[in-house]
Amino acid sequence: MKQLDKDIERTVVSEEEIGRIIERLKGELEHAYAGKCPIVVGLLKGCILFMSDLVQRLDFHLELAFMDVSSYYGGLHAAADVKIEKDIDMAVKDRHILIAEDIVDSGRTLRAVISLLEHRGAASVKVVTLLDKPEGRAIDYTPDFIGVRIPNVFVVGYGLDYEGRYRNLPYVGLLKPKIYS
Ligand code: PRP
Repeated sequence: MKQLDKDIERTVVSEEEIGRIIERLKGELEHAYAGKCPIVVGLLKGCILFMSDLVQRLDFHLELAFMDVSSYYGGLHAAADVKIEKDIDMAVKDRHILIAEDIVDSGRTLRAVISLLEHRGAASVKVVTLLDKPEGRAIDYTPDFIGVRIPNVFVVGYGLDYEGRYRNLPYVGLLKPKIYS
């Protein structure tokens, strides 16, 4: 990954650590969802690498769905509002929902999505996130299944972008300041 690596100041979560996190989450999720056939809802686009690597490890029946909800609008700072760009294409009434996220920051995206799915009658709505940035919270919220907590720094890779790029980096890292200054 030479072209991308040169823009990265340091690694925050390595490929090996991501692998270990997914193994631990597999155990927690199999305990919680065996026999429940949840709908795993990925929030595009950041979810795709984590969701793909995670669901292949899960040994229980599940279905996949996607939503696209924007909050950052391509920049560094979270906007105050969230917008549903693409809604889920299946009924959620009486279904167990597991939202797959790359990162929880302010928590606004999840607050909007959770309340929407609860309003539609989901049996349960829980969240699995690779990264949790608790210092970024604008609301009181704790995800149900957390990969790793990170400090309040802007990270890219493994689904997370800066102006649309770096999502294909196989690890999570800090961008060199010269890239965004
Ligand atoms: C990012 C990320 C989460 C959300 C977290 O999505 O993927 O969905 O922001 O932020 P919050 O906790 O402050 O709401 P983004 O809107 O950037 O879209 P993307 O997944 O397409 O990058």
